[in-house]
This record gives sequence, structure tokens and C-alpha cells, in this order.
Amino acid sequence: MDKATRLHYLEAMGIDVWIPRTSMPLPEAAAESVDAEGPAIEAEPSAPATETDDWNLLQAEVSACRKCGLCETRKQTVFGSGNKQADWLLIGEAPGQSEDQQGQPFVGSAGQLLTEMLRAIGLTREEVFIANILKCRPPGNRDPKADEIAACHDYLQRQRALIQPRIILAIGRIAAQTLLNTDAPLSRLRGKVHNLEGTPVVVIYHPAYLLRSLIDKRKAWMDLQLAIKTYKEFKG
Ligand code: URA
Repeated sequence: MDKATRLHYLEAMGIDVWIPRTSMPLPEAAAESVDAEGPAIEAEPSAPATETDDWNLLQAEVSACRKCGLCETRKQTVFGSGNKQADWLLIGEAPGQSEDQQGQPFVGSAGQLLTEMLRAIGLTREEVFIANILKCRPPGNRDPKADEIAACHDYLQRQRALIQPRIILAIGRIAAQTLLNTDAPLSRLRGKVHNLEGTPVVVIYHPAYLLRSLIDKRKAWMDLQLAIKTYKEFKG
């Protein structure tokens, strides 16, 4: 995405874009202001061998999965991508058409906006891990069914256990309701910090929804600010 489009997205979200006077990284300023280039990132240490084995096993199991009917219609599974030792775990709903074709999460237009939302709080996709409730695309992008969510549950649990994130962002209603095991509407789930087995969970609008709704973009920025504040508090 070019810089002009990126700025357009951020402005549409109501985010004031600050252009830094110097190119010095400003990690502590990330939550308060938007640095279009983002802070410098230190390389993560590589995972121990056993963890790598567990990841490889899990990834292989997901690729071969036939636990629900979605295996008949998918092109390929979408395991998730990013830093396997990330502090931030982002969980969406399910792959769409582009993700099904490319085997990566959030690569369509909603994915581009998600990348920009991360950038606005000083994060890159390489720093976080992005996964979905479902690893396979529901045909026509319909909502996931209960039996599909149940069949996929174990994979996400194991991803969470391996990553041990410090914060989880639930992206959109379906991810939030599934993770928090509730029927509450998104409006009641946003704006507060939930707890999933000791990990704080912040609920954010789904970028696909934000692309359609101008009105909620300011609130989307408030969600991201809550996420940063929560991360700083829980990081220890
Ligand atoms: N929407 C999601 O919830 N997940 C993706 O990976 C893509 C779009």
C-alpha cells in the first residue's frame, strides 16, 4: 500500500498523523502519537527446538485437518502468521477468499487496513501473531457454524499455549463472542478489558466492518488506545 493510501486510511479512522521531524525511533510515544514509520524493532530470539517441533506438528495437523465439512470447500488451510513469540496475539474470525487463495491471514483489503491499524500503534505484522477462530474459509464468507468452531477450538488453544501472548486482540464480534464464550453484542464487549485464562483481551472492530462504516472509525482508534494502555499495564 502506498503512503498516500495509508494516510487516507488513518485519517478516515480519525487518527492525527504526526510526521516525525527526525527519523529517530520513538517507542514510548507510540501510544500517544502516530509515527508513520513506526518504532525500530529488535529481532526476537529464536524458539527452542522442542517449541519448533510443537509448532511444526501443529501446523502439519492443521494442514491435513478433515475435522469438519470446510475441508471439502477450502483451497488451503490458513494457519496464522507472524512472530511465534509475540506479546500480541490477534484473533480474527475466519479466512476469506484472498486468505483461502494465499494461505495467509488478513491479506485482503480488510487485512491491509489491519496492517495500518497496527502501524498506528507502532506495531508491524512481523511483531505480532495473527490467527483466526477458523483455519478454513466458510463458503461465501458466511458466519462460522458452531460445529466448525468446536472442531477448530483445539488448534487455537494450542497456538495460544505456544505463543503465551501478553495481550489478545479479538477482531470483531464472532472472534470476541467465541473467545469470551458469550452472546453479548460487540457494543458491550468493546471498551473494556476481558480476561481469558489470565491473558487480557481487548475487543476491536473488524477492519472489514470499518471499511464499510465511516461512523465508527473514531471508536476504532479508542479501542487501539485501550489495547496499548492495557499492554503497558500488563507487560510488567
Ligand atoms: N477476516 C478475518 O476474520 N480473518 C481473515 O483472515 C481475513 C478476513
